[in-house]
Amino acid sequence: MIESNLQNQEDYGSPFRGRRGLILAIDSSCDETAASVCCDGRILSNIIANQTVHEQYGGVVPELASRAHIQNIVPVVDAALSTANCQLSSINAIAFTQAPGLIGSLLVGAQFAKSLALALNIPLIAVHHMQAHVLANLISEPKPSFPFLCLTVSGGHTQIVVAHTPLQLEVIGETIDDAAGEAFDKTAKMIGLPYPGGPLVDQHAQNGNPRAFKFAEPQVPGLDFSFSGLKTSVLYFLQDAIQKDNDFISKNLDDLCASVQYTIIRILMKKLKKAVEQTGISRVCIAGGVSANSGLRNALKEYGARHNWQTFIPPFEYCTDNAAMIAITGYYKFLAKDFADLNISPTARAEW
Ligand code: KG4
Ligand code: ZN
Repeated sequence: MIESNLQNQEDYGSPFRGRRGLILAIDSSCDETAASVCCDGRILSNIIANQTVHEQYGGVVPELASRAHIQNIVPVVDAALSTANCQLSSINAIAFTQAPGLIGSLLVGAQFAKSLALALNIPLIAVHHMQAHVLANLISEPKPSFPFLCLTVSGGHTQIVVAHTPLQLEVIGETIDDAAGEAFDKTAKMIGLPYPGGPLVDQHAQNGNPRAFKFAEPQVPGLDFSFSGLKTSVLYFLQDAIQKDNDFISKNLDDLCASVQYTIIRILMKKLKKAVEQTGISRVCIAGGVSANSGLRNALKEYGARHNWQTFIPPFEYCTDNAAMIAITGYYKFLAKDFADLNISPTARAEW
């Protein structure tokens, strides 16, 4: 068994007296290769290489994603270090996404991070990607104080989380089937928009009428979500409409996008409101790729103003996948000396 041979902060702190932690972070959970450097919780660089190879396939092809990560990881890490104006030898710890994600993609980032930690003789920090999405709210001012609620909406997850402290997060609601991002991407596909459809639905929705078409909303008890019924509702609606008019989609694209987006946001906001009522916590954040959605961002601001919530929305670059959120999470774990052994493996799925 290989173990990190660093037992305490003094072992690696000496070149940086006065500085608590310079962290290099890597995220390779899906189809973005990302690296970031943060110093004492301040982000110095945030580099992302997007993979365009998947567009032609209408979704992420895991094998191609892993290959692209291997090609991208060295230049992305180099760019993160040079933008932060620091040398690899100055880094105090390496943080990486350990779970969840595509296993082949995770393996590339994990092996790279482990090799660096071993070569540099510095601690390794394993980060949960969904926890990092939540902590993206702690990167820029204004930051929420604890405890706060976070609606985390990404391509694979939809969760309501209570953040008690940076490292004590509790999931109090989640989807029982599809994620909100999947609902965007799958309905986008049905109306002929390329992958990933979420941002395109957002763009078209800005010119459409959100009440033009009505789609089914799920009746799920408690704080859990369901989006598979919406997908079916859109499918049946389109089949019927196309039978009557073959050009229905092209004639109504903006209204369709606006109506689907409106329904997804209503489902999300209803549960978020319920979570505020149940927990009594009215500091409310959003996170994850879908939190880049202009309709959701506006809805949170409106609900906040109407219900007297304090609302927090991360800048766009920290909503979709990025390594700055891994770096900030790594920083809190670094302060807690929550280090991983070098024999740690990434996992595709992971409970909190
Ligand atoms: O967090 P993320 O970048 O990756 C995952 O961890 O899954 O989320 C990706 C998801 C995709 O489903 C994408 O369509 C969606 O976020 N997304 C959006 C927008 N930007 C990204 N959905 C709606 N509106 C957007 N502006
Ligand atoms: Zn993500």
